[in-house]
Amino acid sequence: MKSYEGGITVDKYSAIILAGGKGSRMKSENSKVLFELLSKPLIDWVIAALKESGAGEFCTVVGHRRELVCEHLKGQCEFAVQEEQLGTGHAVMMARDFLKKHQDESVAILSGDVPLITPETLKGAFEAHKESGADATVITARLSDPFGYGRIARNPDGGVEKIVEQRDATEEQKKIDEINTGTYFFKTAALLSALDNLKTDNAQNEYYLTDAIAYINKTGGRVGTYEVSDITEMTGINDRAQLYDVSVVAKERLFTALMKSGVTIMDKSSTFISPDAEIAPDTVILPCTIIKGRTKIGRACTVGPNSVLDNVTLGDKVTFNASQAADSVIGSNVKVGPFSHIRPGCDIADDCKVGAYVELKKAKFGRGTKAPHLSYIGDAELGSGVNFACGCITVNYDGKNKHKTIIKDKAFIGCNVNLVAPVTVEDGAYVAAGSTITDTVPRRALAIARSRQSVKPGWRDKSGLEK
Ligand code: UD1
Ligand code: CA
Repeated sequence: MKSYEGGITVDKYSAIILAGGKGSRMKSENSKVLFELLSKPLIDWVIAALKESGAGEFCTVVGHRRELVCEHLKGQCEFAVQEEQLGTGHAVMMARDFLKKHQDESVAILSGDVPLITPETLKGAFEAHKESGADATVITARLSDPFGYGRIARNPDGGVEKIVEQRDATEEQKKIDEINTGTYFFKTAALLSALDNLKTDNAQNEYYLTDAIAYINKTGGRVGTYEVSDITEMTGINDRAQLYDVSVVAKERLFTALMKSGVTIMDKSSTFISPDAEIAPDTVILPCTIIKGRTKIGRACTVGPNSVLDNVTLGDKVTFNASQAADSVIGSNVKVGPFSHIRPGCDIADDCKVGAYVELKKAKFGRGTKAPHLSYIGDAELGSGVNFACGCITVNYDGKNKHKTIIKDKAFIGCNVNLVAPVTVEDGAYVAAGSTITDTVPRRALAIARSRQSVKPGWRDKSGLEK
């Protein structure tokens, strides 16, 4: 007899992500689920798949290094704390309050360390779960080498009887090639009542979530399965070698899709691109380039070699050569590099140049403005058509506060100028090379702020240095 009431399948499902484990095989101070796969933390891959599959609210079970995981996921989900890691069943028990709130729905249980799970699989499994009306649906796979996984033990009539862990399996059961991927859908009420009945009578003295399946079967509930054919999708990451292997698979998929969409990637092995990046056709990515976060690259750009873009937007036809940029927006037809550093908060309009050895921070460039060589421009607003010549810098820091430099349209700043902020150079003004500017330069004026040259004729002959 079923020992619970309710559990009517409705169209929505909530989810629990298990992320409390120690991840001891990572040998790290960090939480395993925060390790990055193509620059995106493992747990973010799982969350993205969940959201895309149409899941509702979700709860993350945190334990080891939970302060880091909670900080990372702040505002995105509920948390349940598992102080001691007493097994996957115990982890789900910690989320009882969340489950009770979603009593009349189904709940998906996922692992935070299985990043390549797809929204299609989640949708497919949920559909199967709903259609069959099962109390639990286990996502399964068939493996030629099932070692290490829980095995699906079936009744003579073909229904699922229970899941047997590797360490508890008989020789006969070890031969079963149908495995538990560790992802499930449960009618929430069925899961809640099974949780109340989990025991630790197994090889690891843990509360196994898998025993909930045996309990549901034993008490007259129905257990279904949903088989995935692509097992790489369900690979869990337990150590850094597996993380590498999974990254090779993920990269191959992503790069194939990008290339088919019209992007040239010259060297796959030395290129890393975030799954959240967008790159338009006819753009060429040269070797040793890392594209992180939500970077957006327009059409016909050339990016690399040896470049890093992190959350940057590039327009069309940008050349970004051997440089780095973060959290900034760069327009179309801009040339960057080689060897430049665009730090967060920059906004560069179309047709600009940020040439060789130029560092920018919170700098705004109007259209066609150029800083071709060897400059530092921080906390500055440059209008359009400004020439910021070789070796010029904004002196933005007085040792205590940062100050702003404003340079208006078509101003011309000669070589090796210091602009001591706060300071303004008005429209069309000229600043002579080598000047240190501390006051406003009026519109279309010329400012010279350096000592005059003096010449001592025949000085070398009189100096006696060559005797
Ligand atoms: C689990 C399944 C096994 C399945 C395999 C698929 C159980 C008992 N076994 O085994 O049938 O084939 O996954 O990969 O469930 N976690 C916690 N708290 C804990 C223990 C684990 O939050 O106390 C989390 C881990 O962080 C991880 C997930 O649960 O995200 C799975 O735990 P893990 O120890 O890796 O389970 P497996 O031994 O792989
Ligand atoms: Ca695992």
